[in-house]
Amino acid sequence: MIYLGINAYHPDASVALFKDGVLVWAGEEERYNRIKHASGFPDKALMQCLKETGIKHSDLDAVAISKNPQANFIKKVAFALITQPNLNMVFNRARAFTRFAFFRKHFLHLINAPVNSPRPEFINVEHHQAHIASSFFLSGFDRAAFLSLDGLGDFSSAMWGMGEGNKLKVCDRVYFPHSAGFFYTAATQFLGFLKFGDEYKVMGLAAYGKPALIESFRMMYRLKPKGQFKLNLDYFLHHKGQAKIRWEGGIPDQDILYSAEWIKTFGEPRQTESAVTQREMDIAASLQVALEDIYFHILNHLYSITHEDNLCLAGGVAFNSVANGKITRHTPFRNIYIQPAAGDAGTAVGAAAYVAHALYNEPRKFVMNHVYFGSDASRESIVTALRSKGIAFEEIASDEALVKKTAKAIAEGKVIGWFQGKMEFGPRALGNRSILADPRRPDMKDILNQRIKHRETFRPFAPTVTEESAPEFFEMDCASSPFMLKVFPVRHDKRKALPAITHLDGTARVQTVAKESNPLFWKLLTEFGHITGIPVLLNTSFNENEPIVCTPEEALDCYIKTKMDMLVIGHCVVERKDGLK
Ligand SMILES: [Fe+2]
Repeated sequence: MIYLGINAYHPDASVALFKDGVLVWAGEEERYNRIKHASGFPDKALMQCLKETGIKHSDLDAVAISKNPQANFIKKVAFALITQPNLNMVFNRARAFTRFAFFRKHFLHLINAPVNSPRPEFINVEHHQAHIASSFFLSGFDRAAFLSLDGLGDFSSAMWGMGEGNKLKVCDRVYFPHSAGFFYTAATQFLGFLKFGDEYKVMGLAAYGKPALIESFRMMYRLKPKGQFKLNLDYFLHHKGQAKIRWEGGIPDQDILYSAEWIKTFGEPRQTESAVTQREMDIAASLQVALEDIYFHILNHLYSITHEDNLCLAGGVAFNSVANGKITRHTPFRNIYIQPAAGDAGTAVGAAAYVAHALYNEPRKFVMNHVYFGSDASRESIVTALRSKGIAFEEIASDEALVKKTAKAIAEGKVIGWFQGKMEFGPRALGNRSILADPRRPDMKDILNQRIKHRETFRPFAPTVTEESAPEFFEMDCASSPFMLKVFPVRHDKRKALPAITHLDGTARVQTVAKESNPLFWKLLTEFGHITGIPVLLNTSFNENEPIVCTPEEALDCYIKTKMDMLVIGHCVVERKDGLK
């Protein structure tokens, strides 16, 4: 059976395809239309998916949509009656229904299928059910507790329960307007980071501050029995229908979520152009503690009702890798699987997985233990791109010679663009669309920021390490961390050796690489270890400030306009031998 999953009319629009219970393709629209966190309908990703997989509309058994406007309908009506909504709220709800009424028509038109086509079937999956399915069904666990925690989806911000085999038993939800995601976003906006998806910057900033303002934050929410929490709505605007998200031209834009009470509490919000001061650092550190209050409160309740050692996570809050790295210290859970595309892009995978397993009872045989499900680039396309731009290159025949040359260049302090195989699904570059550098160099963070990334200096760069060597360098609570979604302490005796990836608080957001999940990247790490004694690389995404590069042409454009020293694209190597200009 073939199921297509789609996240549409929402930020991080995306597409995923399951064939006979196996994920065969997954990609975000932003990689194809080049708009960060692209929203709306994933037109280009859908067409690319069908082209690359060779699937026709008549092959599709079902299209699963990770949104169900009818979910939690009674809660929505009750909220509307209690709050006596303004016309805006009514209009927004009506618009949501209308969009989905046109989903089928738009889809069939796009793929050039007859409007009266009996196939495929269209199935709506509640947002958090899709998040949970994306994690539990692909985790490899037969039984696990699960939690989805985010801003908002289908009128709820959290869902938790227990998965077993093909069944998801939902135990509880947190309904709008109470939301850990909105709480974190409000603080992110207050700190002057106004672009959609800027929350991860605040997580990096937290290490510079002290949680001196935690009591002020604790005025903004209250932990309730049975894992529940409530926001103090005096501090927020979203429940008044005044904090909408728009996506004109596909660019998501979230209205301000915090109310005047924040200004009474903390003073004026930081302007985006202003310097980051100790106040902002302390707000970020206090916010991190507050988020962990809510996160671990829910998780400890979840354990108390499931008594499972295994935990599956998804939803935007599951990108908080600092909190994720502390779960085994603050809760009884022992084994944790986090969907690598934990944000809304991952709901495309989850919606299709939900239809396959929960609805149609297909046996679970697929484990998502890597993220390489996007577009590939053939040798011909790479060579054509290089020649069309008149770029001289050397083609290296063997993997061994390729990794030797690349590892040597990195050890010499060069910054490398590394473009290999299928593109990653999810927000992290995990070794196929990466910029790589030497983590041993104290100046490497500044070099990358000045020459390529131009990002805030407080943001750390992350390391990648071979799975077998990870315990030697990092104090991990698990055997592997393949998706760079957990922060762990760098071992005290290794911090001096790894200055470019050790954050101010002595931690790092670790990616481990298993030989079988990405053999070429593993070989490169191993070769770098042979040369330096440290099989660790600094790994950041292959982009400047646009979406991660997808095609050879985009990789070449990024290489040319930034000041990388070398580009390794497939087995072709381009070197900037004339010095940096
Ligand atoms: Fe979500």
